[in-house]
Amino acid sequence: MADLLKTRGLLDIESLDRGTIQELLDRAKFFQPGPGETYKRLESLKGKTTVNLFFEASTRTRVSFEIAERRLGGDSISIAAQGSSTSKGESLVDTLNTLAAMRPHAVVMRHAASGAPQFVSRHLKLPIVNAGDGTHEHPTQALLDARTILDHRPTLTGLRVAIIGDIAHSRVARSNIHLLSKFGADIVLCGPPSLLPQELAQMAPGVRLSWNMQDALAGADVIMMLRVQLERQYESPMLASEYFRFYGLRPEHVELASPHVIVMHPGPINRGRELSSEVADSQRSVILNQVENGVAVRMAVLERILG
Ligand code: NCD
Repeated sequence: MADLLKTRGLLDIESLDRGTIQELLDRAKFFQPGPGETYKRLESLKGKTTVNLFFEASTRTRVSFEIAERRLGGDSISIAAQGSSTSKGESLVDTLNTLAAMRPHAVVMRHAASGAPQFVSRHLKLPIVNAGDGTHEHPTQALLDARTILDHRPTLTGLRVAIIGDIAHSRVARSNIHLLSKFGADIVLCGPPSLLPQELAQMAPGVRLSWNMQDALAGADVIMMLRVQLERQYESPMLASEYFRFYGLRPEHVELASPHVIVMHPGPINRGRELSSEVADSQRSVILNQVENGVAVRMAVLERILG
C-alpha cells in the first residue's frame, strides 16, 4: 500500500486498507497545532513541487493543500481551470501532459467528471491526489472528517453516524461511507427519495437508508450534513424553504441525537437550506474544526506520498 501511495498517489478511500488510513490519521494528529499555535514547519517536501489543478470551485480544499505544501517546505503552484488553457478547448490529457513536461513531483486535482483523476493517473507517471472528482470520491475530506470525529470520540467502531442531504451527488458521502464502514461504524443515509439512491444500501456493510430525519437522527453520535449540489442537479431542485422544512437541521432535531452529538458539514454551508444558523453556530458544531484538520490531514497525505 505504501508503494501504491507513492507511485499512484491518493485516488480514493475505497482501495485503502484500514492500517494505512489509521497511519494517516495518527500522523495528522501529530501535525495538529496546539492552542494559539500554527501548523508545524517541516522540510519533508523540500525540493518538491506540487501543482494544484482545480477544474471546479474550491476555497477550503485548495487553500488547505497550499498551506500544507508550504508548511512542509515544498513549492506549489495553483491553477484554476477558468484561467488556464482548458478554457481555450485543451483536453484534460493535453493539459496534464503539458504540466507533466514541467516536471512537478505530484498533481492535486479536482474535476467535475467522476473518475477523472483515475483516468489521468493511467496516462501519467506522477502521483495524483484526488481533491474531489464529480460525485465519486473526496478522499482527503473523509480523512479530515475521521480525524475530527476521533478528536471527539475514542473510536469509530460502533459509532452511529447520520449522513443527511443530497446523498446522490455527494462525493463526500461516498468517501465517508467507505472509510467509516471499514472501521465498523453504523451509517444511516437520509435525504429526499430523489436524492437517496436505493443501491447505496449495498455500498458497504453497516449502511441503511431513511427518508425521515427523526428516524435517522435518533441516538446519532455524529450528524454529517451535506450541501445540496445544485451544480449537479439537472431536474428542478426543491425550493430552499421546502427543502429546509423537511431536511434542514434545526435545534429540535439535535435533541433527538445522543447528548454528546457533534454536527459536521464539509462546507460551503447554505444557511437556511440544509442547516439553521442556530445549529451551525452552536457548541455542537465542529465545522471549523473540520477546516482546521484539513490542513493537518493534507500534510500527512503529502508527506506520505512525497516525503
Ligand atoms: C465539498 C466538495 O467540494 O465536495 N466541499 C469541500 O471540499 N469542502 C462539498 C461541497 O461542495 O458541498
